[in-house]
Amino acid sequence: MSSIPLPIARSTHTAAMSALSFLHSQLFVTPAIPTYDFKDQTIIITGANRGIGLEAARHLLRLNAKKVILGVRSVKAGQDAAENLERSTGRTGAVQVEELDMASHLSVKAFAGRMDQLDRLDAVLLNAGMYTHTFTKADGFETHLTVNVINTLFLALLLLPTLKRGPGPEKPRISFVSSDRHVMFNLPEWKEDRPFEVLSDEKRARMPERYMISKLMLILLAREMAIHVDGSDLIINSFTPGYCESGLINDIKGPTRWVLSLLKKATARTTEVGGRTLVAAIVPWPESHGKYLNDSCIDESALSSFVRSEEGEQAQRKLWKDLLKILEQREPAILSS
Ligand SMILES: NC(=O)c1ccc[n+]([C@@H]2O[C@H](COP(=O)([O-])OP(=O)(O)OC[C@H]3O[C@@H](n4cnc5c(N)ncnc54)[C@H](OP(=O)(O)O)[C@@H]3O)[C@@H](O)[C@H]2O)c1
Repeated sequence: MSSIPLPIARSTHTAAMSALSFLHSQLFVTPAIPTYDFKDQTIIITGANRGIGLEAARHLLRLNAKKVILGVRSVKAGQDAAENLERSTGRTGAVQVEELDMASHLSVKAFAGRMDQLDRLDAVLLNAGMYTHTFTKADGFETHLTVNVINTLFLALLLLPTLKRGPGPEKPRISFVSSDRHVMFNLPEWKEDRPFEVLSDEKRARMPERYMISKLMLILLAREMAIHVDGSDLIINSFTPGYCESGLINDIKGPTRWVLSLLKKATARTTEVGGRTLVAAIVPWPESHGKYLNDSCIDESALSSFVRSEEGEQAQRKLWKDLLKILEQREPAILSS
């Protein structure tokens, strides 16, 4: 077993991620350059043709990963990214580009089927994500819900058998890229009979909140998935990379864009530093199962008070039930893996 540089969980962090603690992380904390040796390991990163996913891939190649699979919706963009990675790391033949459109459950299913042919899968970084204020639908639901939440969980569940097959010496890992901005809103819709359908009703959708809500839902569902999947077999966690330079806000216009751009100029981590947080999240660190990481440390105090409340727990269970109803229509035995 390789030596694992254990990040130390902070215990002094108070209540929910306040504006002050956000600024503290952004201005005074730089997650360390990962040093864990990923020798012989195969790792999937979704949405890795640019942004923090691409930088995570670069770190993983530097850290000796045997194979890094880029799950991308544009194969051409993926191939350009692979060339860029090979040039900068000198590693040839270690990057595999695979088509994956998170807006389509058929694409997700086809991707998972191809991944099932792998001899070995050690970790999955579920990083692909989108942010817009425009209401659209994909796969029958509002697009943030489909891309950032429903199909992300669908892929995680479909990859379970491949991950569990081993034969790596370390536990396999699934990590969900969420956001510290989940603290900004609660989710009153969880009380509705079918929350995903209600949230997909254009007349009721509060689009400026939607990205943050989708990341809140992702945290809740990652926590619930960790309860349903035996932690003796697998490590599942979610985390925030912090606010990082990337193309994420490119589609946002008007005052929100001005504020985010200003904040980015003043506080954002570089894309490379953001990439470090992805790598830290898939270090085989059993204590992180079911937990949330902030600044590359387990830090449940950085979760919103809603997530940590009894109501949050109820919301978590309700969303999981609703999600399974949706996924079981696509894959009847989804939870038997
Ligand atoms: N940057 C930050 O400050 C920050 C903070 C918190 C959380 N995050 C999260 O980090 C993750 C990566 O974002 P980023 O900051 O690196 O932003 P980015 O530069 O916009 O990268 C997003 C990636 O997701 C991919 N993607 C989007 N929709 C997709 C789809 N339908 N199917 C497959 N891939 C899709 C994009 O592919 P295309 O190139 O094809 O569009 C791109 O590769 C996201 O989940 C984001 O929410 C970022």
